[in-house]
Amino acid sequence: MGDVTILGIETSCDETAAAVVRNGREILSNVVLSQIGDHAAFGGVVPETASRQHLLAIVPVVDEAIAKSGVALGDIDAVAVTYGPGLVGSLLVGLSFAKGVARATGKPLIGVHHVAAHISAIRLTQAPPEPPFTALVVSGGHSSIYYVEDYRTYRLVGRTRDDAAGEAFDKVARAAGLGYPGGQKLEAAAAGGDPEFIRFPRTSFRDGTYDFSFSGVKTAAVNRMKKELGQSASQQSQPSLQSQPPLRTLSDAFFRDFCASYQAAVVDALVMNTMAAERSLGSGKIVVAGGVAANGALRERFRVAAEAASSAAEAEAVGKTSVYFPPPPLCTDNAAMVAARAYHDYVAGVFSPLTLNATSTAAI
Ligand code: KG4
Ligand code: ZN
Repeated sequence: MGDVTILGIETSCDETAAAVVRNGREILSNVVLSQIGDHAAFGGVVPETASRQHLLAIVPVVDEAIAKSGVALGDIDAVAVTYGPGLVGSLLVGLSFAKGVARATGKPLIGVHHVAAHISAIRLTQAPPEPPFTALVVSGGHSSIYYVEDYRTYRLVGRTRDDAAGEAFDKVARAAGLGYPGGQKLEAAAAGGDPEFIRFPRTSFRDGTYDFSFSGVKTAAVNRMKKELGQSASQQSQPSLQSQPPLRTLSDAFFRDFCASYQAAVVDALVMNTMAAERSLGSGKIVVAGGVAANGALRERFRVAAEAASSAAEAEAVGKTSVYFPPPPLCTDNAAMVAARAYHDYVAGVFSPLTLNATSTAAI
């Protein structure tokens, strides 16, 4: 097979994105337009606003991706698009547009699962691992562990029973008055803080699953914050708790240590569970993907855990464990990962009908 050039389109949440990728690995262009500014005042994504913003942006964003790639629209081999899971109104914009491009150019359409796309982001890096490997996908909507047999075959081995890790970051960040999106802001606020200042719970299940739960740690954090706020409010003889802007009345030192401690609890749960899953799956490789994979504390904690596992393995003369992360811009939503995932379907000759529908929930 000669070179395969795929146009990818992603509109599942609040990023309008288009990219052109060659052979599933080489990024020719990668355009991401974030709507963060449109949603920040509301503390989260407003679905109708998101759909309307995608509608405004989709043509210029795809045009820009095509122009920057240096490939004419007529010379692409397939159009790949996220069909779910995500906000249906948002997905429909990208999906309808992709169908129009496929119809107009006569090229095949390839519908891509958003989580599978996140995992494929690792193929856009210099030396990606070959499957099988264990993958942790951590984003605003997902915290799942998969055994990736190949890029078209995934087995779910763990999932969150309540909030996703990104959601847990976003909710506490919001309660702390940090704004949206919270993950990056909470990480920045935690810089230099003491991760052992408050010992927040790390939930694990001893029932044969590698499932996550973040509602306990999230509630513990919000309660701790309220308690501290109550104390400092009374010390400063300020009016009622409700009238206080969250955390703004707390000392900078407490805030930093609080954020670092909360981040450490979420990160610990992610790392411990994934390492345990990998020990039983035994591929020796872990890929971490999704928006939360951009988090520096998570990356560092995984590095340390993999090193410890590898020295233990050396002592027992079994395989080492390596952890792989895409660079941060490829962890958060983008369309290059969509085109990267679609490459495998293209090679397998698997295409989507032009009747493909969008879905808010879909198994990988
Ligand atoms: O993958 P993504 O861009 O969109 C979804 O598919 O959800 O992930 C967005 C999530 C948000 O919850 C955001 O707060 C979180 O990823 N996130 C982070 C960081 N960057 C993004 N969480 C922690 N630390 C970060 N640096
Ligand atoms: Zn995502």
